[in-house]
Amino acid sequence: MPGIGYGKAILFGEHFVVYGMPGIAASIELNTTCTYEKKVSGGITANDLVTGETINYGEDKAKKLGQVIQVILRETGIKEKNFRLKLSTNMSLMGGMGSSAALGVSILSCLNKEFSLGIDDKRINEITFEVEKVFHSSPSGIDNTVSTFGGMLWFKKGAANTVEQLQIPEPVRIVLIDTGIINDTAELIAKVRKQKEENPKEFEKIFASYSELALKAKNEVEKADWKKVGSLMNKNQELLRRIGVSSSQLEKIIEASLESGALGAKLTGAGVGGNAIALTPEKELQEKVSKKCSALGFKTFKVTAGIKP
Ligand code: PMV
Repeated sequence: MPGIGYGKAILFGEHFVVYGMPGIAASIELNTTCTYEKKVSGGITANDLVTGETINYGEDKAKKLGQVIQVILRETGIKEKNFRLKLSTNMSLMGGMGSSAALGVSILSCLNKEFSLGIDDKRINEITFEVEKVFHSSPSGIDNTVSTFGGMLWFKKGAANTVEQLQIPEPVRIVLIDTGIINDTAELIAKVRKQKEENPKEFEKIFASYSELALKAKNEVEKADWKKVGSLMNKNQELLRRIGVSSSQLEKIIEASLESGALGAKLTGAGVGGNAIALTPEKELQEKVSKKCSALGFKTFKVTAGIKP
C-alpha cells in the first residue's frame, strides 16, 4: 500500500516563522508517493525521487536519502533490513513546495501500513520534523505539520507549536511558478540570521510589520476574502524583499502574475530560487496567470491550496 505525503504552499510567513512569528500554509494536491517491496537480501534501497524523468533529489540527495531512512528506522524501531522503497513525485524539487517533508510523510505512512506500526499523525509529524533537520538544520516545523495534517493552517513555533485549522469554504486556486533554480533553505535561513544580526533596528521594524500583517491575514483568510488576502500577500512580499530573500527571477514571475490579474503574488518557501505563488481564485484567472508565466519560460503548477488528505 503506497504512502502519500502532500506538498504545501506558504501563503504568509516564510522565514518569519523561524523566529516564532505565525505563518499560514496550505497543503496542495502535488505529492510524493512511496511504495514498499520486500527483498530477500541486499539491505535497504530507495530510489531518488522520480519526477517524470529521473532526477537527483538535490545535489547530494543520495546521501541525504540514506540519512532520512536511518532517522526513520531509528524513530520507528523497524528491524527489517531488506526492502526497497520506490519514491515518485509530481512536485517541483527546486524548493518551496515542502518536498522534503512530503518525502518523510510518504515513507512513514508507507512503513506504518506495511509494518502495522500503529503510529498516529502526531507521531508522523514529530518524526518528519526529525527528517526535516536532515535537510535544513533549524526548520520551524511548518512544512512537516502541513504535510501531515493538511488543510489551511495557522502555525506558530513555540515550546509547544500552535497549530490551528483555518476554516475556508473550499480550497482556493493558486498557481505555483518554478524559477528553475534550486534553493538551499539552510543557507538562506543563515543569510537572514546574519542580516538580522547586522541590522537589528531594521529587522525589529520588519518583524513588527509582519506580526501585524499576519493577524490581518488570518482574519481575511477565515473570511475567504481573497482580494484582501492577495493584497496582504503583496505586502508580505515587500517584507521578504527587505530581508533579502527575493531575486530577479522571482520578481519577474511576480510582476507577470500581477499584470495578468493575480490577486497577490509572492515567493513561497525559502526564496531566491524555488517557487513563487500567485493567488488566482477563479479558474480563468488561474489559466491566464499560468499561461503568461509559461510563455516566459517558467514551469507552472495549477493547484488548489487547503486540500485535506
Ligand atoms: O523552501 P522550503 O519549502 O524549505 O520552505 C522553508 C520555509 C522557511 O520558513 C524558510 C524555513 C522553515 O523551516 O520554516
